[in-house]
Amino acid sequence: MGKSIITAGLDMGSSHAVVVIGRKNEENGEITILGAGRAPCRGLKGGVVVNIPESKLAISRAVEQAEAQAKETVEDLLVGIRGSHIETFNHRGAIAISRTDKEIASEDVENVMVNAKAIQLSSDREILHTVAQDYSVDKQAGVEDPEGMEGSHLAVDVHIAVASSSHINNVIKAINQAGFTCEDLIYGAFAVGDCLVANEEKDLGAALVDIGGQTTYLSFYADGSIRYTKELPIGGELISRDIAYGLKTTFAFADDLKEKYGRCLTGLTDPNEMIEFLAVDGRSKKQVSTRVLAEIIQSRVEEIFEMVAQELQKSNYADAIPGGVILTGGCSKLLGIDKVAEQVLQTNVHLGCPIGIEGPPEIVMDPVYSTAIGLLKYKHEGEWASTHRSLNGDSFFTKVKNWLDNII
Ligand SMILES: Nc1ncnc2c1ncn2[C@@H]1O[C@H](COP(=O)(O)OP(=O)(O)OP(=O)(O)O)[C@@H](O)[C@H]1O
Ligand SMILES: [Mg+2]
Repeated sequence: MGKSIITAGLDMGSSHAVVVIGRKNEENGEITILGAGRAPCRGLKGGVVVNIPESKLAISRAVEQAEAQAKETVEDLLVGIRGSHIETFNHRGAIAISRTDKEIASEDVENVMVNAKAIQLSSDREILHTVAQDYSVDKQAGVEDPEGMEGSHLAVDVHIAVASSSHINNVIKAINQAGFTCEDLIYGAFAVGDCLVANEEKDLGAALVDIGGQTTYLSFYADGSIRYTKELPIGGELISRDIAYGLKTTFAFADDLKEKYGRCLTGLTDPNEMIEFLAVDGRSKKQVSTRVLAEIIQSRVEEIFEMVAQELQKSNYADAIPGGVILTGGCSKLLGIDKVAEQVLQTNVHLGCPIGIEGPPEIVMDPVYSTAIGLLKYKHEGEWASTHRSLNGDSFFTKVKNWLDNII
């Protein structure tokens, strides 16, 4: 076996801390997942740390489980963060190439990226992540790598994620208090997309829909890059609430029924199949048919995809996804969800499968791990390294501010 490095990814979801440990073979670049851990966490709300001690505990538990399975220990974590405090948008940077030979050098590419990040931010906001979508040289768009080309004007279109500094710092605090260091911070939505959306789909135009516990993430890819990301405040917890309300039971029992017997289409159920559950008092036994359970689930899942469809229309990408829709997140485990999505979105839909990742199928194929797996893949892809928030020095915001201060 060639030289390899061990990396761990931590995804802070709305209700769980999820960790995967993987090994990258430095010779062939292959990533193999060795172990995973997932611990419920009451210290998080919508991806934001609201209780540091609870978050710290969940992080420790998830890492312990992953370490035991991987038979490796880790200290550094690649951290995927999310939450409604993160905003994303497209921006453009441009510079003149003043050198006499007009050959674009790597520092010009760095400078045009700095220029693209020159945005006004309040003191509690900072750039978390920037992805270069497209370069243009002398107004010729579609240039993948401008370095070495000749031109007098270089521009770049970027997709930027801006986050709240205090939320970021609280995540780092919880990680440090759990005894780990934060190797890097990555916007979770970017990481999961890179792991599940194939290059051909990105070129053609495709959407990724990640349905978690409290949130649904939408990401659109076109012309090879991410173009739009949006977080919707809906997810699997709403489905469990509907079941709890409809069957007059607790949220926990409802969640359990959904995960064990949940289907999204009544056609996938047998009308005579009955399941037993406990009522709100936790003692009286009740029964429901899997068909009735599916009716409750189907109507909420349809509503989730109707919101996704509305968002697609608003974003102007509704007609730009011939590559179809890729589903992930815990709710994508509901049987028949791809069929419901196809009916509502009127396009082809398939369940996400991590591309180019080896490892136990019960981890690699389980969508609750897809963001954490994506973190490992993203770390090793290269492009992000020059574009993410710097943990070891000034944040990009500080750098951009300094750069602006120098030229004003
Ligand atoms: N087998 C299953 N069938 C149906 N739903 C499931 C299954 N397993 C998990 N879920 C649901 O998936 C949701 C959690 O998904 P996930 O782990 O992707 O969320 P998260 O990342 O913690 O949350 P978020 O993305 O909102 O921050 C919960 O509502 C859970 O009940
Ligand atoms: Mg999630």
